[in-house]
Amino acid sequence: MEKKRLFSGLTSTGRLTLGNYIGSLSKLLKLQEDKNNEVIIFIANLHALTIPITKAELLRNVKENLKLYIAIGIDPKKTKIYLQSQIEKVNELFYILSTMTTIGQLERMTQYKDKATKQANSTFKIPTGILFYPILMAADIILFNPDYVIVGNDQKQHLEFTRDLILKLNNNYDTDIKLVEAKIADLKEGAKIMALKNPKQKMSKSDQNKDNTIYLLDDLLEVKRKILGALTDSENKIYYDLEKKAGVSNLLVIYSTIKNISLKKAEQEFKNLTDYRKFKEIVADQVCNLLAKIQKNYHNLNDDKLIEILNYNLKYLKKEANKNLDKIKDKIGLIL
Ligand code: TYM
Repeated sequence: MEKKRLFSGLTSTGRLTLGNYIGSLSKLLKLQEDKNNEVIIFIANLHALTIPITKAELLRNVKENLKLYIAIGIDPKKTKIYLQSQIEKVNELFYILSTMTTIGQLERMTQYKDKATKQANSTFKIPTGILFYPILMAADIILFNPDYVIVGNDQKQHLEFTRDLILKLNNNYDTDIKLVEAKIADLKEGAKIMALKNPKQKMSKSDQNKDNTIYLLDDLLEVKRKILGALTDSENKIYYDLEKKAGVSNLLVIYSTIKNISLKKAEQEFKNLTDYRKFKEIVADQVCNLLAKIQKNYHNLNDDKLIEILNYNLKYLKKEANKNLDKIKDKIGLIL
């Protein structure tokens, strides 16, 4: 049986969060164990340039992200890992795809709109890289022609955009690129972990209020403090209801996904508990146990290993990327 190719990535704009772990990274851990899967993941350091970042920060983020991949249990023997800037062909495909995309399509993207509406005179202040962000993302994906992309809920729109581009390529140029599917977990399985102090908004790496976000490398006492300070409600009953009980629901999802039990089971566990502080302490213990393990692995990792990991499958990945790009270029008429 032919293996299914699974693809995933993260941007090296900052430190990884519990949202990244639950929404995407933890799902990859299970998928890499299935011999019928070929898993490819990467660190998007070109995407990271869309917001101002120093050389030192960028390099630190990439190293930290890579070490965290390994520390959480991604096995470079089972999962192929690369750095976006290592596979230069993505830039060529990015250009080709940009010719098939309208400015209006890009302006409609939520991520762009969020940034664009935040400041006056924004078109003069926002780099075009932010507008083009989804095209580069589509290029990342199409270059490897995967069956599935493993992402959190916030990437849904970008995946739809990528699928549209694939259809356009296949229709206009008669390519046979697979119509990739997004594998996005259910909300109850952690596809969207919310900000602790503001559970109507997603937990984000770049939140100004650091109490909203749990970083995988946060000090454990800080983690506990943040969880104890999470916004809940005044009902003192613990069950899942996204509308009425966004804060409690978020903590329940965090707890059940880390403990690897169903949400129903977690609700059962807390059925008779009416003390939110106790509830938060139990959730915090669960999170801290996980992070303690990750952090121990992280600190045992040597930076020297990183280059080795990035080179492990590079030749194969470049070959795959070249092959796929050449097929597209040939169909378009770019190869004589
Ligand atoms: P990034 O770095 O923002 O996030 C990495 C992954 O984590 C998921 N995620 C979340 N899941 C649940 N709850 C949250 N609060 C949460 N926050 C983030 C994201 O959905 C993502 O799966 N554009 C991508 C990187 C990228 C990419 C790609 C991914 C570039 N090209 C091609 C897949 C395929 C991003 O910025 O992810």
